[in-house]
Amino acid sequence: MNQPALTDSHGRAIRDLRISITDRCNFRCFYCMPTEAMEWQPKTEILTYEEIIRLTEIFVSLGINKLRVTGGEPMVRRDVEELIGPLAQIPGVEDLAMTTNGHFLRGRAEGLKKAGLQRLTISMDSLTPERFALLTGRNELHRVLDGIDAAIEAGLHPVKINSVTIRGVNDDQSLGFAEMARNKGVHVRFIEFMPLDNGKVWRREMVMPGDEVRAKINAVYPLVPVASASLSETARRWKFADGAPGEIGFINPVTQPFCGHCSRIRLTADGMIRTCLFSNVEHNIKRLLRGGASDDDLAEFIIATVEKKEARHHINDPEFVQPLRTMSCIGG
Ligand code: GTP
Ligand code: 5AD
Ligand code: SF4
Repeated sequence: MNQPALTDSHGRAIRDLRISITDRCNFRCFYCMPTEAMEWQPKTEILTYEEIIRLTEIFVSLGINKLRVTGGEPMVRRDVEELIGPLAQIPGVEDLAMTTNGHFLRGRAEGLKKAGLQRLTISMDSLTPERFALLTGRNELHRVLDGIDAAIEAGLHPVKINSVTIRGVNDDQSLGFAEMARNKGVHVRFIEFMPLDNGKVWRREMVMPGDEVRAKINAVYPLVPVASASLSETARRWKFADGAPGEIGFINPVTQPFCGHCSRIRLTADGMIRTCLFSNVEHNIKRLLRGGASDDDLAEFIIATVEKKEARHHINDPEFVQPLRTMSCIGG
């Protein structure tokens, strides 16, 4: 925390950079990218690891201290360990995490840890093979569960499980997820479905408010609040009153927006800065980077871009329009 933070025009300190390294994914999640016939971006448009590392060094020199590598699915990109290593070594990086679907973790979790990854978040939205296959388009629950175990064994602690809860689709499995948190000692976070899906199926009625899920769990496994580590945390955290291991979190961007303390900025795989998940404009830093810009020029561009960060999302406003780029390109 030595470096002064980047600050936006709303007075928020920007400390958290989320780097999407590919738009590709081997799953087809209902709430993200359901279409089989996806058109991927050409490889030449995707930032190389060298380019990502150079940009990240500049971001960190400006005050970013928390990094998250995302996708698409970051582990479909070749040798992600070779990116993690150099990112972990940038002086000033205090937290380095990755979001993955868990499919490729067995056999690689230890290598990721060795490369310098501190922790992992794994997306998993169903506990039964049939429903999992329905939600992701792939009958691979067993591999994801094994991947979660691999992450735990590798000490990528805390292992967090992201579960997007959709009314009428998987809201009957909340207790099962709570049991998973207790049994495996992981942090399960229930996420409200946001209108960022490629299939444009989002409807307000499908949003399962985090408070409803919490009431269901609390009735069986009483919960007590855990103090947030920082105001900018997305999740409201709870632990089990009976002292069982694990944690439960609720990420409620629709019913309880948390934009007021947002500390996040995003870099897309094709080299655009997004100042909000719901941005309608992107800022092309790749053009500068590939046009021979100096580190100072790039830093100036980043500072000016951060200033333009949106105050909040407009999901709950009548004039809301879904952004053109969806979660699979932004990375969560
Ligand atoms: P840690 O708490 O540091 O582990 O990270 P995190 O809370 O940011 O978690 P993660 O990156 O796993 O994000 C979880 C989910 O929260 C994402 O997949 C999104 O659905 C949602 N989310 C994350 N950041 C934002 C944000 O800035 N705005 C909104 N509206 N939703 C977000
Ligand atoms: N709404 C909420 N969260 C989403 N994610 C993907 N699409 C959506 C959506 N429409 C989250 C998933 C995954 C992460 C990469 O993004 O939880 O863990
Ligand atoms: Fe931050 Fe935008 Fe997410 Fe709000 S919607 S928390 S401003 S990224």
